Amino acid sequence: MAREFSTVGVVGLGTMGAGIVEVFARNGIDVVAVEISAPALERGRATLKGSTDRAVAKGKLAEADRDALHERVHFAVGLDALHSVDLVIEAVPEHLDLKQRIFAELDRVCRPETILATNTSSLSVTEISVATSRPNQVIGIHFFNPAPVMKLVEVVRTVVTAPEVVADVEALCARLGKVDVTINDRAGFIANALLFGYLNHAVGMFESHYATREDIDAAMKLGCGLPMGPLALMDLIGLDTAYEILDTMYRRGGRDRRHAPVPLLKQMVTAGLLGRKSGRGFYTYERPGSPKVVPDEATPLATDGAVADGARAIAKVGVVGSGTMATGIIEVFAKAGYEVVSVTRGAEKSAKVCEAVKTSLNKGVVRGKLAEADRDAALGRISWSATLDHLADVDLVVEAVVEELSVKKALFASLDEICKPGVVLATTTSSLPVIDVAMATQRPADVVGLHFFNPAPVMPLVEVVRTIRTSPEATATARAVCAALGKTGVVCGDRSGFIVNALLFPYLNDAVKMLEASYSTADDIDHAMKLGCGYPMGPFELLDVVGLDVSLAIQRELYLELREPGFAPAPLLEHLVTAGYLGRKTRRGFRDHSHR
Ligand SMILES: NC(=O)c1ccc[n+]([C@@H]2O[C@H](COP(=O)([O-])OP(=O)(O)OC[C@H]3O[C@@H](n4cnc5c(N)ncnc54)[C@H](O)[C@@H]3O)[C@@H](O)[C@H]2O)c1
Repeated sequence: MAREFSTVGVVGLGTMGAGIVEVFARNGIDVVAVEISAPALERGRATLKGSTDRAVAKGKLAEADRDALHERVHFAVGLDALHSVDLVIEAVPEHLDLKQRIFAELDRVCRPETILATNTSSLSVTEISVATSRPNQVIGIHFFNPAPVMKLVEVVRTVVTAPEVVADVEALCARLGKVDVTINDRAGFIANALLFGYLNHAVGMFESHYATREDIDAAMKLGCGLPMGPLALMDLIGLDTAYEILDTMYRRGGRDRRHAPVPLLKQMVTAGLLGRKSGRGFYTYERPGSPKVVPDEATPLATDGAVADGARAIAKVGVVGSGTMATGIIEVFAKAGYEVVSVTRGAEKSAKVCEAVKTSLNKGVVRGKLAEADRDAALGRISWSATLDHLADVDLVVEAVVEELSVKKALFASLDEICKPGVVLATTTSSLPVIDVAMATQRPADVVGLHFFNPAPVMPLVEVVRTIRTSPEATATARAVCAALGKTGVVCGDRSGFIVNALLFPYLNDAVKMLEASYSTADDIDHAMKLGCGYPMGPFELLDVVGLDVSLAIQRELYLELREPGFAPAPLLEHLVTAGYLGRKTRRGFRDHSHR
């Protein structure tokens, strides 16, 4: 029979502690909530009150239940109040010496049978446990932020944690309505080991002015379906906590440079810019603790997208190519009211593309998303051609031909001869340097990347890539066009992977390395990212959808360009590709899809 936990103690009522108190009290468990000082205690109490009041306001918690919840919580300053609890969860700042001191003290104060748990994200549970005389009763219970919302709990057992303690804690998680994954004591466990390299990389992009905070966050939200962008997430985690986690992971996790905190982080922490909790981090908040972002000096001015920043007027658009992307892009422009000239390599190809666009538009009609008249008008705006000469009077060309530099360069050289001056020439390349294509013309200032996502009619994001030769007007034009298409254009520099792939694929590759090291299973890793971080798909689900060969190619490009040792493709990924296990398209990748 699993142990009954009727009273638990929580030490530290900051970002995590206050949420953890709420989780227990909501589930009928009495809580002794402890802080270091009276003011800190009051802050913790206010956080709990704010959170439960919001739940009541949203209709997620009845008033009576809120009141009962608060009655279950006893607040106290100092650890002595924990003398008779069944379990303690520590959630003080991420410093080993502080945690060891607290555990030594808890060991003295608490009853001999009490389980002592830490909510550490990156420190060694084993090192914390040896500060007590009961290391076999010490365990990691790692909640996710915000604790009342996120379903996942990582239960961390050390080599000495007693099996029955693990079983009791697993049963407790189930009682709290959480899903647990039980794992060994390794820096960052599952989720943070995969998350923090990505977060730090995003901070590095921001620090180097590769893209703005809004664009980095929008790219990951819209391009990957994440609940929030990396910089907004850093603000939620707390930059001081994030700094400590990175620093610990760097030192414990094999000195992977990707975990060496980006210098800007330290500066922000020193300056008191800790994120939401201090009212300012990467963004500015209404007040300390508030989730509401308010405009500040870095907030971009709202524009109507049409004539902003010297954007040129665009009425007629040429689209070159006959593949999936070209087809989707033709549809997107035609639906948005642009005159479109489609250029393919022959009448047969044009007929195929035309058919595909019709089929897609018809689907919209059947689903009730598009009126028949609008479909007909969109089709009427497209003209079909097999020669580039018909692009002489367009205002914008979007190239979406095969991903080969020589082919694209030759095409841009021809466009340079045919198109009128002032035209914006865009490539949809996802992996080639845009500057190489730009330099095939005599007008590199007018060349940009317009990286659409697949399927183009559905995906709301476009990466606007500016090279070191791109003019501000061409960039502004590209961005305004994205807005007119109803999409979000994010502007970034001309580096391998732009924003989304550069941040996404190393994370996927790290997940493969974690699986390869047998730290956890594909199912648990997928669970951890979905339930702990709100990802729409786990890394292995996503890899199987994207295709392992495509993923490997992107990861190789990143590695070759940036020479970052941590970006080296996981050997397991290479082996699966060699074996022909490419994901759903071959019915086998990380998982077997033959029966689904
Ligand atoms: N922030 C996150 O997203 C997140 C997520 C999961 C786990 N964690 C982990 O949770 C722990 C707490 O992180 P946080 O972000 O909540 O930190 P925080 O800085 O928001 O809160 C820490 C709290 O501990 C209190 N405290 C400090 N010394 C104390 C003592 N001696 N006795 C009692 N209370 C004391 C502080 O007053 C503060 O209120 C860390 O180990 C962190 O790695 C954080």
